[in-house]
Amino acid sequence: MTTTRVVDVSGSAGLQQGLREAVRILREGGVVAFPTETVYGLGADARNPDAVREIFRIKGRPAVNPVIVHVPDAQLARELVTAWPRQAEILAERFWPGPLSMVLPKKNEVPDVVTAGGPTVALRVPAHPVARALLCESRLALAAPSANRSCHLSPTRAEHVLGDLRDRIPLILDGGQTSGGLESTVVDLSRDPPRLLRPGLISPGEIEQIIGPIQRGGSEDRPSVLASPGLLERHYAPRTLLEVAEPAEIHRRLAELDRQGLRFAVVSHQALEGLPVGDRFILLGGDPVAYSRDFYATLHWLDHQGLDRIVVCQLPAGEDWLALRDRLRRAAHPG
Ligand code: TXA
Ligand code: MG
Repeated sequence: MTTTRVVDVSGSAGLQQGLREAVRILREGGVVAFPTETVYGLGADARNPDAVREIFRIKGRPAVNPVIVHVPDAQLARELVTAWPRQAEILAERFWPGPLSMVLPKKNEVPDVVTAGGPTVALRVPAHPVARALLCESRLALAAPSANRSCHLSPTRAEHVLGDLRDRIPLILDGGQTSGGLESTVVDLSRDPPRLLRPGLISPGEIEQIIGPIQRGGSEDRPSVLASPGLLERHYAPRTLLEVAEPAEIHRRLAELDRQGLRFAVVSHQALEGLPVGDRFILLGGDPVAYSRDFYATLHWLDHQGLDRIVVCQLPAGEDWLALRDRLRRAAHPG
């Protein structure tokens, strides 16, 4: 059995030690969990198929679900693809380093296990200083999905990774809570027009301002084809049953749960009359940036409170809330 070590990398001594250990493990074909500005990733050398297979095994991830490859800069991204359209160039200039993953036709040297046998690879230059340092010092491209068991909530703190992967991975670099809190936006640039595969911290509107119209099939609509397994329903769910209630319905719904003798907590972006803020009523930021930062952490915490139900107040319909509504719908899906 592996014993998981957690190294606090918030100070410079811890950072040096953590990086040294992480680089050694990665070069030997092992896996390491590390913080990015979105969520924690579970990284392995993207050019080493056995190392990447290890990620799939540890996560219990279906082999049909490709992983994102993290690189230190756009130059190294270009070395992994056979085409680098102008759209990629200007998106990289504007959003990298940052929470945008671009899908492009892959070179042969990207192993099939990374891309689930497909002809394209998703690439991202993360902004988190620990992720950047790890990429620079290891001089590896890192295949890294979120550092959770398949279908579980993504981790935004080292303790979430530990809760899910304890003794399944050798090392977690603990960089505290991630600042973004939600996964990157995934956009497919291998087709024309480009297509949004997963809404994320960067909104489709921000992308369109730069490259013009993109297709949005992978957002709130049900996709007709499974273009990206991130579109699978119930992909980011707590163990506790979660339901979404419209603000106008919520009091009636809570009274019903009360009558059934169920223990529940409420999460909302807005104050709700008659509900004092506390352990049973959690008020997250009223804007999408603040809400995103704390959303998964709140669900992780509530998942350990022995509740029968988590009730989340439905979010506004505007595009700023698109990614959060998408994750909320998946977390609540009954199947
Ligand atoms: O913010 C993030 O993106 C985090 C951090 C660690 O970078 N990573 C992450 O990875 O969320 P993961 O594996 O949990 O989600 C990757 C998503 C999945 O929806 C996957 O299907 C999609 O990206 N994806 C990866 N490669 C793809 C490809 N070649 N074509 C289409 N979709 C792809
Ligand atoms: Mg994931």
